[in-house]
Amino acid sequence: MIVTIDGPAAAGKSTVARRLARRLGFRYLDTGAMYRAATWKALRCGADLEAPETLAEVVRNADIQLKADGRVLCDGQDVTQVIRSPEVTGNIYRVADDAAARQALIRQQRKLAATDNLVAEGRDQGSEVFPDAEVKFYLHASLKVRAGRRLDELRNADKDVSLAEVQRQIVLRDRRDRSRPVGSLRRTGDMIFIDSTDLSVEQVVQVMLDHVEDRLAGGPS
Ligand code: C5P
Repeated sequence: MIVTIDGPAAAGKSTVARRLARRLGFRYLDTGAMYRAATWKALRCGADLEAPETLAEVVRNADIQLKADGRVLCDGQDVTQVIRSPEVTGNIYRVADDAAARQALIRQQRKLAATDNLVAEGRDQGSEVFPDAEVKFYLHASLKVRAGRRLDELRNADKDVSLAEVQRQIVLRDRRDRSRPVGSLRRTGDMIFIDSTDLSVEQVVQVMLDHVEDRLAGGPS
């Protein structure tokens, strides 16, 4: 069974996807981490980021592994922390905007679905990668709440930034994610819309669990 969670930056997709996967005994697929690892590799090997074929080749040859304990490995190296650096975050769009590089990552994502039950999270999981997923969610939250959550995360990691700056970055990312020519963030009619603005993580997970369990029991999702 495939459960997808699409939605914008900082809507809480990773947190709820991880918890939902644990509760269901499914594998959690953090596709953002794959885009991050691919970007890290392209930067590290000095690939010409303006040359689509070179970039796709680098991504095709990247051995990205998402471990059950949350670690991310790229070509055997633990990149869990470094893929969250501003340098990687600031360059992801180069991989994310590139059709051939996306195809290489999508192939890896679909391969996992052939063997495992998945909770797959990202911008394009229900709309593009797994259009036939059994249950699809679209996780929304207001800009103000998303910026506040991201600010808390950054401050917990001892990063000194202002709310205004975090908000500015999220608006920029939203614009990029919605307007990219391939794999753009979009809500399709078959996605269950969840507004998490006034909900706790546990409440969101519970709503999702109810839908998945309905579906497992043979009812509508
Ligand atoms: O989810 P996360 O913030 O780690 O994703 C990082 C970036 O990777 C997103 O802003 C987006 O540009 C890209 N991405 C994507 N498609 C996905 C997941 C992430 O384009 N399925």
